[in-house]
Amino acid sequence: FEQRESSIEQPTTSETDMYNQPFVIGVAGGAASGKKTVCDMIVQQLHDQRVVLVNQDSFYNNLSEEERSRVQDYNFDHPDAFDTEELLCVMDKLKHGEAVDIPKYDFKSYKTDTLRRVNPSDVIILEGILVFHDPRVRELMNMKIFVDTDADVRLARRIRRDTSEKDRDIGVILDQYSKFVKPAFDDFILPTKKYADIIIPRGGDNHVAIDLIVQHIRTKLGQHDLCKIYPNLYVIHSTFQI
Ligand code: ADP
Ligand code: C5P
Repeated sequence: FEQRESSIEQPTTSETDMYNQPFVIGVAGGAASGKKTVCDMIVQQLHDQRVVLVNQDSFYNNLSEEERSRVQDYNFDHPDAFDTEELLCVMDKLKHGEAVDIPKYDFKSYKTDTLRRVNPSDVIILEGILVFHDPRVRELMNMKIFVDTDADVRLARRIRRDTSEKDRDIGVILDQYSKFVKPAFDDFILPTKKYADIIIPRGGDNHVAIDLIVQHIRTKLGQHDLCKIYPNLYVIHSTFQI
């Protein structure tokens, strides 16, 4: 056969960067919707890959003495409750293959105390109620998942979790829910559902959705690997005639 025409384009810097960088998945949804459960299931199924989970909770601003003394008036569900600049800085380092120290947030003392070392990975999962709120954070993501669970189920799970794990009183939980959690879900979280590529109804109970997501991630990782080995593969355009 003879080669009739061919052209080889040099990959642009952004194309080469795209295939050298980790695959970033964002997982948003209301509090107690099952985000962490879904992430744990994805991580478990991708056990043969280098995967790291980053929680938006780690970037809660520490409370001042005064804020702590009146914690019932503090809105933990507003975008301003998070240090998004620090989150962007951490994500930028991870995307460029640098190890980072991520704070661990303590829901009882309302502050970050210890740090955990996170090494660079092939897949980064960023999970949190408001991870789709800031466009700069959204732009980092290759795949966006919204966990969609009914409000009554979220509230029931929250009561169960916060009474047992956070030693909170049921009256305090219900006051916080009606004063801050529900309004913030309606004003800030639900409007970000439109940015999702995939919406998972029923969270961790939805095994079919999780299997499909994992299959898609594996396909994408395969494409990343191929393009790392053959960086010019996808930019060679040739026409052959036998
Ligand atoms: P989120 O990360 O959205 O806050 P979690 O995954 O931590 O949600 O789940 C919130 C609470 O609900 C946890 O206590 C968890 O054990 C429980 N939970 C999550 N998914 C289910 C489910 N499918 N069935 C029953 N309980 C669940
Ligand atoms: O894990 P999840 O996504 O549920 O975490 C977000 C929730 O944690 C928010 O609804 C917020 O009200 C709650 N929160 C809290 N106390 C804190 C920090 C966050 O109740 N100190």
